[in-house]
Amino acid sequence: MKFETPATTNPIDQLKIIGKPADRIDGPFKTTGTAPYAYERHDNIANPACGYVVGSAIAKGRIASMDLTAAKTASGVLAIVTADNAGKLAKGNLNFATLLGGPEIEHYHQAIALVVAETFEQARAAAQLVRVDYVKAEGAFDLAAVKDSGKPARITGGPADTAVGDFAGAFAAAPVQLDATYTTPDHAHAMMEPHASMAAWDGDKLIVWTSNQMIDWSVGELAKTLGMPKDKVRLISPFIGGGFGGKLFVRADALLAALGARAAGRPVKVALTRPMMFNNTVHRPATIQRIRIGATRDGKITAIGHEGWSGNLPGGKPEAAVQATRLLYAGANRMTATRLAVLDLPEGNAMRAPGEAPGMMALEIAIDEMAEKLGLDPIEFRILNDTQVDPEKPERAYSHRPLIACMGLGANRFDWSKRNPRPGQVRDGRWLVGIGMAAAFRNNPVMKSAARVRLDNRGVVVVETDMTDIGTGTYTIIAQTAAEMMGLPLDKIIVRLGDSAFPVSAGSGGQWGANSSTSGVYAACVKLREAVAQKLGFNSTEADFADGQVRSGNRSVPLAQAAGESGIVAEDVMEFGDLGKKYQQSTFGAHFVEVGVDAATAEIRVRRMLAVCAAGRILNPKSARSQVIGAMTMGAGAALMEELAVDKRAGFFVNHDLAGYEVPVHADIPHQDVIFLDETDPMSSPMKAKGVGELGICGVGAAIANAIYNATGVRVRDYPITLDKLLARLPEVA
Ligand code: MOS
Repeated sequence: MKFETPATTNPIDQLKIIGKPADRIDGPFKTTGTAPYAYERHDNIANPACGYVVGSAIAKGRIASMDLTAAKTASGVLAIVTADNAGKLAKGNLNFATLLGGPEIEHYHQAIALVVAETFEQARAAAQLVRVDYVKAEGAFDLAAVKDSGKPARITGGPADTAVGDFAGAFAAAPVQLDATYTTPDHAHAMMEPHASMAAWDGDKLIVWTSNQMIDWSVGELAKTLGMPKDKVRLISPFIGGGFGGKLFVRADALLAALGARAAGRPVKVALTRPMMFNNTVHRPATIQRIRIGATRDGKITAIGHEGWSGNLPGGKPEAAVQATRLLYAGANRMTATRLAVLDLPEGNAMRAPGEAPGMMALEIAIDEMAEKLGLDPIEFRILNDTQVDPEKPERAYSHRPLIACMGLGANRFDWSKRNPRPGQVRDGRWLVGIGMAAAFRNNPVMKSAARVRLDNRGVVVVETDMTDIGTGTYTIIAQTAAEMMGLPLDKIIVRLGDSAFPVSAGSGGQWGANSSTSGVYAACVKLREAVAQKLGFNSTEADFADGQVRSGNRSVPLAQAAGESGIVAEDVMEFGDLGKKYQQSTFGAHFVEVGVDAATAEIRVRRMLAVCAAGRILNPKSARSQVIGAMTMGAGAALMEELAVDKRAGFFVNHDLAGYEVPVHADIPHQDVIFLDETDPMSSPMKAKGVGELGICGVGAAIANAIYNATGVRVRDYPITLDKLLARLPEVA
C-alpha cells in the first residue's frame, strides 16, 4: 500500500482499542524475568561458550605485536579471535570504525581480540594474559582545538549550509542582537542492557540473538562485513533493554560472537562489559554552537544564524545541531552551517533525538536570552515569531503546527503567569526558585514498513514483523492496531517481533517507529480484511469487522469460522509517497520546569516538570506518557549531569562506567506531568499518528537552564550545568 494522499476515515478512527491506555503486553514477561534477552538462555542453544572482548589500550596507532601464548593455554580457553586470524572482514556501510581493529587502531577500546572460553570467568582471566605492544600515533582529541579545521558536512536530510536572504546585513542592522556560543559535551547512551549477542552457525548459515533496534540494517551490515549473502544471516532481537540510538547498528559484540562461534566450533555469547561500552561503541558527539539572532525592537526576528561544530572519526557524520533552527522560527534572513572536524575519539553517532536534542539545548537558551533583551515574555516572543511554513522554503507549509497551543496550555497548567520575570527574586528558605520553559520540536520521519498477519481458526490474529520493541511499547501498539482493524479484542492478537525472518519493518529509530510500523500492520490488515471478505463473498468495502465477527448486510460470520482450517494470511508493506516532501511534518511541544538552587551551595533540584506534546494521534497514552517522562528524564540528565570526560592527551572517555557517567535517578526527578494535545495529522499516515519519544527530550535541557537563570540570574551556556559553574557567581544574587 502506498500512502500518497491525506488519510480519510478508516477503521482506526473507531478508536475502540487504539488511543486507549492498554497495559503493555510484554510487561508481565519483563517483570517476571521471562522475556529472553540476547545474553540469556535460548531453547535451542545448549551450553554456549563465552567470549570476552579485549579493547585497545591506545587511541590511535597500531599493534606492533600481540602475544597470545599464555592466554591460549589458560584454563578453559577454546579460541582467540584477532584481526590476524579472523579472515577477510569487509568494511561496513554504517559502522565507520572497524569492529575488529588491528593492526591499525582507530580509537581507544576498539576491539582487538575476543577470547572464547568455557565460562565467562575463564575468558576474562585469559583476556588479562593477552600481551600487546603498540606503536602510538598522535591523535586529535580536543574539539575546541580542532574546530576551525572542520569541513562542511551534510546533515541527515539536508545540506551542510543553508542561507536565505542577507543574514550578515540583517544581523548587523538589527537594533537588538544576540551573539552567543553554547557547548554540549559528549554523551553516552547508557542503556540498561549492555550490547550483547549470542551466535550459532548451522553450516554456512549464521543466527545471532542480539540486542538491536534496526534488524534489517544490521543483517545487511553483518552479512557485508562477513562477506556472506544476506539471506544466510538471521538476527533475532525480541526484547531490548534500551537502545537510545546506540543499538541502531550492529556492534562488536555481534560480529565477534559470530567470529568466535566459527573459531570455537560452537555457539558463543558475548556481552560488552559496562566499562567497555563507553569507548568501544558509539556516543553522541560534543558540539560547539554559535547562535546569532537579530530582531526589531518590537520582537520580530529579522536575522537568525546557527553554526554547529562537532568532530568524528574519518567517514563519520556531524551532529546536526542546527536542524531545528532551519525550521522552528520565522525570520527573513537566515543561515545555518555545519562543520565537522576529524577527532580520534570513539565513533560518534545517533543518540536520543540526534541533532535536535543538543541543538535545542542551545537554541532555546538563545531564544530565552533574546526575549529578555527585548523585555518580552519568552512565550510571547516565540508566538511573535511563529511560522506555519518552512521558513527556508516558504512554499512548503507545515502539515499541522500547534506550537502556540502547546505553549498556551502549558502556561496555563504550570501557572506561568505567576513567574517573576526578574531573575533571582524568589526565595523558598535556602532555595532560590526559578521557572523556565522551552519549545519542543522534532521532525517526524516516516519509513517504509511491512508486516504479515495470519488469521487462524481460533479467531486469533498473529502479526509478524521484524520491528523492535526497545522498551517503547511496540508490542502493545501493534496489537492495538491489529485488534482495531480486525474487530477483535486485544487478547486475540499475538505479536511477534524482532526476527529477520519476518517482513522488514521501519525499525526503531528517529521516533519513526510507532507511526511507521503500525502503518505497516494497518496495510497488512487491510489486505487480510479483503481476503476474508472475498472468501465469504462479501463486498470488502461494505464488510464490517466488529466483535469478532465480519458482517455484511444481514449476514454475520465469526472470524474463526471465516478463517477455516487453513487460516488466511496476508502481507503488505506501507510505503510513503511525497507528502513528507510537500508538507513539513514535525512534532511540537512545550516544556516547563521549576528548579530550586541552593543559595549557599548551588545544588540544583528540579522541583516540577511539565511537557505538553502535539504528536498527532496518540496510539496508547500510557506507553506514550512513559516515552515522554523517560525523555524528560534524559533531558534533565543532559542539563545537569551527563558528560563524558575526555582525556585530551590519551584520547578516551575517562568516566567509562555508571559510577562516573552520571544519569538521573528517581531522587533527581520530581513528579512529571505530560499532556498530549488531542489531535490527528492525516498527512502522516493512515494512523494519523506521529513520533513522540524523541520530542520529549528536545528542549528540556534549555527549559532547565532557563529556570536556573530565572532562579539565580546566572546564565550558564556550557552543559552540563553543574554547581561549580554557578557557585562563584551566586553571591551576586544570593
Ligand atoms: Mo534514535 S537516536 O534514531 O534511536
